[in-house]
Amino acid sequence: MKHLLKLMDLTSEEIVSILDLADQLKYEKKNNIAHPLLAGKSLGMIFQKSSTRTRVSFETGMYQLGGQALFLSSRDLQIGRGEPVQDTARVLSRYLDGIMIRTFAQQEVEDLAKYGSIPIINGLTDFCHPCQVLADLMTIREHYAALEGLKLTYIGDGNNMTNSLIVGCLKTGMQIAVACPEGYRPDPAVLAFAEGNPNFLLTDDPMEAAANADVVYTDTWASMGQEAEKEARIKAFAGYQVNDKLMEAAKPGAMVQHCLPAYRGQEITEEVFEAHADELFEEAENRLHAQKAVMVKLMADPQ
Ligand code: CP
Ligand code: NVA
Repeated sequence: MKHLLKLMDLTSEEIVSILDLADQLKYEKKNNIAHPLLAGKSLGMIFQKSSTRTRVSFETGMYQLGGQALFLSSRDLQIGRGEPVQDTARVLSRYLDGIMIRTFAQQEVEDLAKYGSIPIINGLTDFCHPCQVLADLMTIREHYAALEGLKLTYIGDGNNMTNSLIVGCLKTGMQIAVACPEGYRPDPAVLAFAEGNPNFLLTDDPMEAAANADVVYTDTWASMGQEAEKEARIKAFAGYQVNDKLMEAAKPGAMVQHCLPAYRGQEITEEVFEAHADELFEEAENRLHAQKAVMVKLMADPQ
């Protein structure tokens, strides 16, 4: 594994090995066991969109690993004024040991990897959010002790989260049922990946999808970059809310996960959110541990 551009590029074994290392790093952090595996290394973090969790968890994660992280807002980089990604990649490869990028087009992330010579980590694009799903799988595995055979139900917009969840769940032997309104379905490339897999269900009926779920997942109805569509989306997603009624269709005691930020009263009710707050904030914390594992896998010197 040279980069983390999208989960489709990873084998099931690579995913599980990241989760195992993440568990170990979490244990070490909780027990004050230092792990300076990236001492002297620098990670550049390019942000073309806002972030709370991704920025802070990568920055502190890099610090805990003995390295440093540089926050590079695209507003201040020459990339924001039109310097081609090919040139940015080749320049930054000469200063840094890795790049995390959050942007719109998946192609930009793929191009950084193509033209640069250091590991590239996708910190969210319109297409996918692999770091989030690694943290989600880690959280679910911590809760249930295993992933295989569990059923995750995703309710709402077939967006970057849905795309990564489908791939992450299917690669780890989980079942995934997705309920989205017509016109808001996951990416065709992801549907092609999932097609024919008996562990995958796509429906427009949230109750059908939620039946017997071990994990119920949702995300905002209007992702970053879709602000102008917000009102139309609120109408389109009426009925696709994670609320008490929907949770009754899931298994008793089912977990709730959300990548955050959450919009209470839209994709999730205040009641469901607060009843599952411990699971949701454990999931947010696990961004730190999962991403540290990714950085160690990609950037540490061979032992
Ligand atoms: N879930 C997630 O990626 O959060 P941020 O947008 O705050 O980074
Ligand atoms: N789908 C959301 C995820 C935020 C972490 C977005 O792209 O804005």
